[in-house]
Amino acid sequence: MLLHTLASFLAAMYEKTVLYVCTLLSTCFILLVIRQLVKQRRPRAFPPGPTPLPVVGNILSLALEPHVYMKKQSDVYGQIFSLDLGGISTVILNGYDVIKECLQHQSEVFADRPCLPLFQKMTKMGGLLNCRYGRAWIEHRKLAVNCFRCFGRGEMMFQKISEECMFFIDAIDTYKGKPFNPKHLVTNAISNVTNFIIFGQRFTYDDHDFQHMIEIFSENVELAASAWAFLYNAFPWIEYLPFGKHQRLFQNAKEVYDFLLQITEHFSQGRVRQSPRHYIDAYLDEMEQSASDKATSFSRENLIFSVGELIIAGTETTTNVLRWAILYLALYPNIQEKVQKEIDSVLNGRLPTLQDKQRMPYVDAVLHEVLRLCNVVPLGIFRATSQDTVVRGYTIPRDTMVITNLYSVHFDEKYWSQPASFCPERFLDSTGNFVKQDAFLPFSVGRRHCLGEQLAKMELFIFFTTLLQRFCLHFPQGVIPSLRPRLGMTLQPLPYSICAVRRQQ
Ligand code: HEM
Repeated sequence: MLLHTLASFLAAMYEKTVLYVCTLLSTCFILLVIRQLVKQRRPRAFPPGPTPLPVVGNILSLALEPHVYMKKQSDVYGQIFSLDLGGISTVILNGYDVIKECLQHQSEVFADRPCLPLFQKMTKMGGLLNCRYGRAWIEHRKLAVNCFRCFGRGEMMFQKISEECMFFIDAIDTYKGKPFNPKHLVTNAISNVTNFIIFGQRFTYDDHDFQHMIEIFSENVELAASAWAFLYNAFPWIEYLPFGKHQRLFQNAKEVYDFLLQITEHFSQGRVRQSPRHYIDAYLDEMEQSASDKATSFSRENLIFSVGELIIAGTETTTNVLRWAILYLALYPNIQEKVQKEIDSVLNGRLPTLQDKQRMPYVDAVLHEVLRLCNVVPLGIFRATSQDTVVRGYTIPRDTMVITNLYSVHFDEKYWSQPASFCPERFLDSTGNFVKQDAFLPFSVGRRHCLGEQLAKMELFIFFTTLLQRFCLHFPQGVIPSLRPRLGMTLQPLPYSICAVRRQQ
């Protein structure tokens, strides 16, 4: 009898507890949903935009080709409109006019980076590329610019790029005209140019540890633009889910930073104070000099973050442009022939020099057209407002995330006729001289514009001219690769094979 009473009491208690827990969980869930819906309210006088779904907002619309989706939306809502990225109100700038208006005319206002959970987790908003606008960014940008000036410009850098280019040409020669995927060779060669500035030396093409680091880092550039990354930014608690692409992103990042820590220590050995051999030495000098300044941003951690950012920003972009250039030239043999004719007549078999660029307007025009059409960084790097501002009558509060749709600049019908076609003549006048075009912003503009623009242009010119001077490029018999890009923060060609056949000169 006693046992029976105890059992019924326990059963009643259990039922009550389950009921309480369920009620508590439901209340929490409802409160969270209400909080999310409040977060999703558009700020006052904010740019209009497509209606967001409850909770996830417009995130799902970004799953396929976000840059194309955004351009289409701008036809409906105007050059400046907004999206809700799961409670993150985001302004989207489309087309040359409004991007110039904001990034150039209000350069300081649009110079910040958004404080997104993903960036916080990866680099704690430190380093250089993801760094918030302020003292830390100024310190890191100034140091990097000085290093690029000392170790990365002029004749010395030109020499280094040419040397690397010869390693690249020799490696291509080993295929003897047989089909190969140029991705790894191009990546290794291009990354070595940045490696020279950062570490003072190159890595051989069979250095598997370095190659693996670049591979997983570049995978992260792809994952950072996936729907999972947007979801993580909106709902950081999904970090605790055991599945999802964001987990891969975190694992990769940990592996990359462990590796960078190790090689940074290795390359700083033998340092002589105030006599820097490369970026790492120069950074350590700055760190020592500012050691007594409590507010300094120079730290071991920021050294690793900035090294990683410089490597990936320099490699992932220029590599993909060169891969697109190879693809387009194999696709248009008549353009390839004209390029080779100009190279042969100007260089007459010798290696290109810095001065030759002015004498090769057609080569320059082709490289510009590749940069325009391949949109290697289609949405730029996300920006944020550093103060409240007004654009075209809309109010944008401070700390608002801003996406610059650079793809929409290069496909802006106001400035380009038939923007989808590959036509280098857009950059030539009637007498064949090179002409600049305004709506050409692959390196973005304003205070945060690309730091490596000059270096990238030098690399592209040398690698491209030397490659076409030595080889004829064509696809394997009967194969025509797709021009559809692989999506990520950068747009890269899908893997393809190419035959590089030695030219008889
Ligand atoms: C064809 C090659 C390249 C393209 C198309 C490119 C494009 C871009 C773009 C669009 C941005 C974003 C700017 C913004 O926030 O609006 C950027 C930033 C940046 N790029 Fe490049 N880039 C290239 C090569 C390089 C190279 C070679 C380096 C250095 C080795 C580099 C280093 C950086 C850095 C450090 C930033 C961040 C600047 C900052 O936040 O202050 N880039 N790049």
